[in-house]
Amino acid sequence: MAVQSRFSFPTPEEIPEQWQFPTPLEQRSYLINGEIHHWDGPMHPVDSPVYLRKEDRLEKVRLGSYPLMTGVEALQALESACNAYDKGRGAWPTLSVEDRIRHIEEFTLKMRQQRTEVVRLLMWEVGKTLKDSEKEFDRTVDYIHDTVEALKELDRRSSSFTLEQQILGQIRRSPLGVVLCMGPFNYPLNETFTTLIPALIMGNTVIFKPPKLGVLLHEPLLKAFQEAFPPGVVNTVYGDGPSVINPLMESGRIDVLAFIGSSRVADLLKKAHPKPHRMRGILGLEAKNPAIILPDADLDLTVKETLLGSLSFNGQRCTALKLIFVHRSIADRYINSFCNALDQLKAGMPWENGVNLTPLPEPEKTTWLQSLVQDAVNQGAQVVNPGGGAISRSFFWPAVLYPVAPSMQAYQLEQFGPIVPIVPYDHIDEPLDYVATSDYGQQISLFGKNPDQMAALIDPLVNQVCRVNLNSQCQRGPDTFPFTGRKDSAEGTLSVSDALRCFSIRSLVAAKNEEVNQELINNIVRERKSRFLSTDFIF
Ligand code: G3H
Repeated sequence: MAVQSRFSFPTPEEIPEQWQFPTPLEQRSYLINGEIHHWDGPMHPVDSPVYLRKEDRLEKVRLGSYPLMTGVEALQALESACNAYDKGRGAWPTLSVEDRIRHIEEFTLKMRQQRTEVVRLLMWEVGKTLKDSEKEFDRTVDYIHDTVEALKELDRRSSSFTLEQQILGQIRRSPLGVVLCMGPFNYPLNETFTTLIPALIMGNTVIFKPPKLGVLLHEPLLKAFQEAFPPGVVNTVYGDGPSVINPLMESGRIDVLAFIGSSRVADLLKKAHPKPHRMRGILGLEAKNPAIILPDADLDLTVKETLLGSLSFNGQRCTALKLIFVHRSIADRYINSFCNALDQLKAGMPWENGVNLTPLPEPEKTTWLQSLVQDAVNQGAQVVNPGGGAISRSFFWPAVLYPVAPSMQAYQLEQFGPIVPIVPYDHIDEPLDYVATSDYGQQISLFGKNPDQMAALIDPLVNQVCRVNLNSQCQRGPDTFPFTGRKDSAEGTLSVSDALRCFSIRSLVAAKNEEVNQELINNIVRERKSRFLSTDFIF
């Protein structure tokens, strides 16, 4: 089947008025020390994964460009963040929790006004469907609200004194310093903000570099950052990673690295820091989450969940199911049913109603995916779905590969795209060995009905991955649940409340329970002389 019969790029006239992209966004602005500066230097062009059909040609859509900053500007951003933190004496780290919340709420209000623009850019820049782009925006706003509530709760719990072994103490959480935030292209807004917001609200100052793809969608928020936060609290850098990030790391002045990307880059960044033990890493890295389908699995439910799990946002989720182990006794029935369901998916442009499969933003990705398919085919696998692996420029029709074996790249590498490798197994030890020896340890999906069998799998698997999903796809949400991984998959745990802990450290004021100290503390608290030593209760 030629992919053209299932997918085609639109003509300019076919794009709904509301979602057109009439003028390229040449972003020359960047935020350092509370000022929006104008960049006169070289720019990096931004192209959309969406092509336009003009007569018999396909044309790239140029979305705009962003500054290719250098180490000089990056170090200015660092200076600004360090000054705003001022070794913990700055206005922001010493501000009361209530006041910091007020700034975050002001930002959220302004951010909401930019929803349509951010959603439009999400669709054009990374090819995310309208529904998922809106969901990403709204989920981020909800995350901010939930973070505020979680901090209030944390603060309430810390607003009392403890008396232990005749020592009086008040224990709270304090900021860590300067945080470098770098998110991924697949959730450029959400995953950046799930570190940026908790870092800020805990009193840290931030340098924020948008991912390589998904830069322009942050531009509509620049003014909101400038207006809602004191100078130097939020600073932005753009450009090529090694040029702008290396000088920051080599300075030794980054206290927290919040990075969602590959473990290879995370290692390089950490090594560039002269005193890595001083820097806390909050890392979301690779994963290759498997599904194990047992012989008694409910087939309809399994197909529904594995299809969603492997192909939502074209498989470009760190939590996506990237290897499916199916018991040989049901493999044919499962594959048949999976391929039929896949065939019903709609491919098209991000703004089209009911669309599931869209163009891929990473340059040359389709060629690389094709090489994974070819490698599997060369080693005896087949593409078992009609049209699997067909390409039209940045669009790749999902390829279901079967039978996949350990020697194939599709088994070993994180495809982060629409390839579904299916591995038949005879004995449960085969998928369990995969989990045990894999470099990754994020999540797993188990499909089956027998309670004895499922329980016998759950107990060892929770010690090898960080979430076991029963008859359900792998996913990060709900955001109040802990999101983390073992081995090469993560460092640190994120969730609404865990993130507040990640970006802070416990700090306390203590004194022997003597009259002189009681009087001193009473006076400070009664007269509200300290923001730390305080019994104020946030409502
Ligand atoms: O790319 C990794 C994301 O954190 C996955 O989030 O499971 O909600 O799609 P999700």
